[in-house]
Formats: sequence, C-alpha cells, structure tokens
Amino acid sequence: MKILVLNGSPKREQSDTMHITRAFLDGMNDFCAQEIKTVHVIDKHIEYCTGCFACMHNGGTCMHDDDMREILNDVLASELLLFSFPLYSYGMPAPLKALLDRTLPLSSMAMQKVGERYAHVGQADVSRLRCLMICGCGFPNSRHNFEPAVAQFKLCFRGDSTVITVPESPMFNAPQASVVTVPRLALVKQAGLQFAETGRVDEALLAEIGTPMIPEETYAAIVNGNTGK
Ligand SMILES: Cc1cc2nc3c(=O)[nH]c(=O)nc-3n(C[C@H](O)[C@H](O)[C@H](O)COP(=O)(O)O)c2cc1C
Repeated sequence: MKILVLNGSPKREQSDTMHITRAFLDGMNDFCAQEIKTVHVIDKHIEYCTGCFACMHNGGTCMHDDDMREILNDVLASELLLFSFPLYSYGMPAPLKALLDRTLPLSSMAMQKVGERYAHVGQADVSRLRCLMICGCGFPNSRHNFEPAVAQFKLCFRGDSTVITVPESPMFNAPQASVVTVPRLALVKQAGLQFAETGRVDEALLAEIGTPMIPEETYAAIVNGNTGK
C-alpha cells in the first residue's frame, strides 16, 4: 500500500508520537511490505490559505506556488494518508493545520448533504484514499483532551476513519519508561497488522492503546518532580 505519513511534530523523527507511528507501520509491514513516504511538515514551505477560493473554481490550482503542490500530488498518489501529530492546544500543530487548510483544491465549491451535515463535492478523485490519525499528548488523561482533534479529523475525513490516541506520550522518549512503553508499542504494532489485514482496528484494542501507561496521579507526580522520595 502507498502510505503518505504527514508528521506534524516539529521534533521530526525525535517526535514522541512518531514512536507510535513507527510501531504501527512495523505492524503493517509485518503483513506485507508497504511503500512509505514520510513528510516532516515543519521542513516544508506551506503558505497559509488566503481564503480566495480560486482553487475551488479553477480545477484545483492554488495561487501559492510552494511545497504544497508536491504534497497534493503525493496525497493523490497515496492509498493511505497517515496524520501523525502531537496534541497542541487540543488540536493539531499549526504547520499541519496550514497543510490541512491547503488541501482545499481537492474540493469544489459545490456542497452536498452527507447524512445530517453538508460537505464539499470533490474536485479530485480521492475515493481510494483512506485516512488515519495517530496522536500523542502530554497529559495523562484522554477524556477532556483529545476530543476536539478527533472530532475535527472525523469531520474532515471519513467518520469511520481509524484514530489512535495515546496519553503520556513523552514517556516514549524516556528509556527508563521502557517497561511500560515497549508493551504499549507492541499493542500498536498489533493494531498496524490488524489494519493492514482487515482495514480496521478492533475498538477494544484502540481503547487499550488509549489508556494511560502508568496511573494518572503517578505520571503527574513524576512530571511535577514529586516522586515521593
Ligand atoms: C504548544 C503545545 C501545546 C500542547 N497542548 C497540549 C494539549 O492540549 N494537551 C496535552 O495533553 N498535551 C499538550 N502538549 C504536550 C504535547 O502533546 C506532548 O509533549 C507530546 O508528547 C509531544 O509529542 P511530539 O514529541 O510527537 O511532538 C502541548 C505541547 C505544546 C508544545
């Protein structure tokens, strides 16, 4: 499968979240060899959308001649678009949001009712493209934290898109936390294998992956420098 990974972390390969993403891709590769291209969004020149809507009328060409042209070609050539990003202010980091806004040329101005809401009619054929979100965050709680990012992703893409969220993700970059991070990454790898095999991941497995790796209070105490010693 042709996979385009959009890494929204400014930490590039050092990203906490990319540990989760790499484990997921390892699982997919265990099923069969995948063709993976990773874009570190922070390194790309992506102007902000100016809201002129010209791209929605002219067959899909944006007024900005920047790296987004190549990225849109990569999106159209992909079968799976994997958004890998840390939670920033309950959403995605600004460079990735700029990229998301700049996918507007894929839509036309026309809108249609989809279930209970409206969505723009595609200007490009993205019917074979599936989308997946992997998001890490710094707090130990998932509830009252990930919801805005998940809702945005599911509204922008298909409502049944697979979403993986993992709290306490700075632990993935802490070797002393390997006793809990290694088993968690093994679960994520299992999810990747399942996704490659069946196109989806069990709800129970997603829920297990989304639980804190250590108790919330312990994590908060460690972050606060209060380990009780
Ligand atoms: C500007 C900024 C905003 C953040 N907002 C949140 C947030 O809303 N909720 C949360 O749990 N963590 C938040 N964090 C913490 C990051 O999500 C966390 O450090 C994450 O592990 C970083 O992942 P990365 O290494 O993949 O970039 C924020 C961090 C930054 C720098």
